[in-house]
Amino acid sequence: MNAIDSALAERARKLRNELHRHNVLYHALDRPEISDAEYDRMFRELLDLEMRYPELADPNSPTRRIGAAPLAEFGTSPHSIPMVSLDNAFDEAELMAFDRRVRDGIGSGGESVVYTAEPKMDGLAVELVYRRKALAMALTRGDGIVGEIVTENVRTIGEIPLVLPDDADVPEMLEVRGEVYMSRAGFEALNRNRQESGQPLFANPRNAAAGSLRQLDSRITAGRPLSFFVYGIGVWPDLRLDSHSEILNLLHSWGFPLNPLIRHRIAIAEVLMWYRTLAQKRPELPYEIDGMVVKVDSLRLQERLGMKARSPKWAIAWKFPAETATTHIRNITVQVGRTGVLTPVADLEPVHVGGVTVSRATLHNMEEIERKDIRIGDLVEIERAGDVIPKIIGVRKAARTGSEQAFTMPAACPACGSSVSRSALSSSDREEAAFRCINAQCPAQLKEHIQHCTAKAAWDIEGIGEKLADQLVERGLVRSISDVWSLRVDQLKGLERMGEKSAAKLVDAIAAKKRLSLKRFLYGLGIRHVGETVAEILADRFGSIDALMGASMDEIRAIPGIGDIIAENIVAFFQKPENRRLIERLFDAGVQIVAQPAAAAEALAGKTFVITGVLPGISRSEAKKRIEDAGGRLSETVTRSTDWVVAGEKPGSKLEKARHLGIDVIRPEEFFRMLDRLNDGGDGKVK
Ligand code: IVH
Repeated sequence: MNAIDSALAERARKLRNELHRHNVLYHALDRPEISDAEYDRMFRELLDLEMRYPELADPNSPTRRIGAAPLAEFGTSPHSIPMVSLDNAFDEAELMAFDRRVRDGIGSGGESVVYTAEPKMDGLAVELVYRRKALAMALTRGDGIVGEIVTENVRTIGEIPLVLPDDADVPEMLEVRGEVYMSRAGFEALNRNRQESGQPLFANPRNAAAGSLRQLDSRITAGRPLSFFVYGIGVWPDLRLDSHSEILNLLHSWGFPLNPLIRHRIAIAEVLMWYRTLAQKRPELPYEIDGMVVKVDSLRLQERLGMKARSPKWAIAWKFPAETATTHIRNITVQVGRTGVLTPVADLEPVHVGGVTVSRATLHNMEEIERKDIRIGDLVEIERAGDVIPKIIGVRKAARTGSEQAFTMPAACPACGSSVSRSALSSSDREEAAFRCINAQCPAQLKEHIQHCTAKAAWDIEGIGEKLADQLVERGLVRSISDVWSLRVDQLKGLERMGEKSAAKLVDAIAAKKRLSLKRFLYGLGIRHVGETVAEILADRFGSIDALMGASMDEIRAIPGIGDIIAENIVAFFQKPENRRLIERLFDAGVQIVAQPAAAAEALAGKTFVITGVLPGISRSEAKKRIEDAGGRLSETVTRSTDWVVAGEKPGSKLEKARHLGIDVIRPEEFFRMLDRLNDGGDGKVK
């Protein structure tokens, strides 16, 4: 390296260090030392240097927060220590019972225990793995055992340190855990933007945070307002601290944002008081919380208490009651579902509840309206719990003025004008006593059915959303779901947001999906009560559509997991001539039911696996054969071009090497799932 180069390298290093330091001062410690303009100037100087001299680039540079090239799929990696969840308490008595269990568990002889009480952030958990002080990998919680690798996305979150301070005494490897969340203001701005550009809105800040973090293109994540609070650790070798609060404070001093509303080392009586304070502050907080997490502070006591199957005995989540609000019902309208059932929906005066604006709530059915005596014009109390659709808990009858109007179900379907019946379709199905439109050709039903049968779990045709389904029906292009298979470019082009190119793309997408597994075919038919699971059970048991159509009620009822109601619906469905005709039309349109997806043999084409350790229940040569059958290759050595390392029992140094090179490490279960997925009628590609 010549003198100029080394001076430039030194300048880049200095800029990075300074930028990292100011990041911590700004985000974690809330003590900025320089102006935003000064920060931007340094940032631009560094960016400029890195662009002109690519050899100076560094994956942990603050400039990398703008996102990297998109991924084809997320890799997965096991957590060193499972990310467990928490038990819940819903009232003071349950919290006191927890405290008693803790004291009994450690045999304190009635002595009090010291707790840390933290707001329970409503976001998603992530694990950050640091190696030699640099962020090396970030994982979502996944199923708690294996997480998805979201490193590039996490890098874009300004509040998460990419490197830890020079002078910090950080172990060689360190795992930090916390919650990625979106502020209410960030969420609202994001949704405003999406509304303006015609994109679907996120239901709440948690969904928005999860959706943003799970983007394959980290440049999209970079544009989303994500934040982070630290709340714990995974592996920390040779930890020499005594308490949870010391850990949090030390991590905070290294640059991890720590929620200032955490109360450290308090007695149970203060925990109760702090809960009330937090509940009071909750509506005004800049982010959503759904409770308070109470943790035994002493690490020694935590260890003594130990774990249950899926949660620690030393912590509990004390949930807040759902948020409620009152508003007026402006009108009650009726929606027609896929099977013709009419569902009344309340049109509400928009109101803010649980962090979102609500303007509609489902009323479920006529009985519900009668039971609660809900009328148009009523002042009602609504509740939103988690991401559940808001529900009406009750009517403020004292507020009635006399101008409220009772609701009656229309005698004619609001979509097609056909008559509405209330007869039960099958004897044992109480739900069937709903009001339904009797017209099998009802456009509203057809619109819903088109969306159902083209969904990912059914025919998996991308690009047919609500708007397009509406147009296909309104223009008479689709009169039965079987018509979807014969759509032509000249019919599609000219529809809203549909040029020649996208029309051709859609037609190709449709043609590519004509070979379906029996499970997908059955699910797509939209038989009442036949969801994905039941469709799979039926496909496994009968193997062909003819066998199922010929099966008797008793045969179907005898299958484990399928009860009388489901069996009755299935038999009734296949008895109807119009449904038999539909199945014929689907085959006429070229649909084929296949046992194996066409592309299976190619699915792992060119992919290289390395196995380390012992795989349960399968020999090495068998594993080799299965990989090769799917078009992949099994290699003995881990190199940069290895795609996956499968870590079995007692893995060897290959695991270390894979981690070092950043190769995706998967557990045997994931590996088997990968191979199995090739046979489930998926698109044949490994996700
Ligand atoms: S501690 C063993 N602390 O709640 C301790 N979790 O059901 C495990 N969460 O998946 C978690 N705020 O995503 C902890 N201050 C906090 C939290 C918190 C939110 C979430 C977290 C976890 C879930 C537990």
